[in-house]
Amino acid sequence: MPVTAASDTSPLLAVRQLSVFYGQFRAVDAVDLSVRAGEVVSIIGANGAGKSSLLKAIIGQADRIEGVISYCGEDLAGQGTAEIVAKGIALVPEGRRLFPSLSVEENLHIGWEVGRQGEIGIEDVFGFFPILKERCRQKARELSGGQQQMVALGRALLANPRLLLCDEISLGLAPVVIDSLYKLIPAIKARGIGILVVEQDITRSLAVADRFYCLLEGKVTLASRPSATSREVVMQHYFGL
Ligand SMILES: Nc1ncnc2c1ncn2[C@@H]1O[C@H](COP(=O)(O)OP(=O)(O)OP(=O)(O)O)[C@@H](O)[C@H]1O
Ligand SMILES: [Mg+2]
Repeated sequence: MPVTAASDTSPLLAVRQLSVFYGQFRAVDAVDLSVRAGEVVSIIGANGAGKSSLLKAIIGQADRIEGVISYCGEDLAGQGTAEIVAKGIALVPEGRRLFPSLSVEENLHIGWEVGRQGEIGIEDVFGFFPILKERCRQKARELSGGQQQMVALGRALLANPRLLLCDEISLGLAPVVIDSLYKLIPAIKARGIGILVVEQDITRSLAVADRFYCLLEGKVTLASRPSATSREVVMQHYFGL
């Protein structure tokens, strides 16, 4: 039997018994989760469920964690965000966090500077979102919310991630704009990038997901595939009924 390299069979991301703390408060409680290359995994959960805390921990922004976060078979313990991003994990943060006084182009460039070497360049991002090419010299604060979200997503893609973390990219945006952002997910997936999508919009989140996890008060209450789960069961676990 041929010997298979560990990276061929092991998940891109494996989170085991992860807890995230703010002081004594445990916002994420013993979560197990995995994402494979080219897989879209959704995390759903109400306000305060611990979704953002989980993503922040993965990218090295949590103050204190317990448990193991392993990426490509390597334990990320003790590594800072810059190191983690350079290794190929990128976050589209909740609330976008652009530099408002920098231009579109300058904001995008930051992703390219901090990330890993790879095939995605600025022209690819302009191909995904042609409006950003037209607006490339405008300051980020002059853009609409949807366009700003495109910049945030483009910046993350320019880091050439193997794992992309998206925190509520649809929040506060019109359905037509959300469609244009979500349309990109299959193209990202097709490049073999693993995607972890956090959303409160259950329908939209499950529509793109291969698998999903439901979080309630920091704990995973359900881990399944959208096709294997009825809406009723999802709602019961979402609200803890
Ligand atoms: N910096 C912080 N200091 C103290 N507690 C925090 C901090 N950030 C988050 N929390 C708490 O941790 C819990 C989880 O918050 P988190 O932001 O991870 O939830 P979320 O699922 O992303 O919620 P939302 O849908 O509102 O974005 C909440 O009870 C929140 O109040
Ligand atoms: Mg959040």
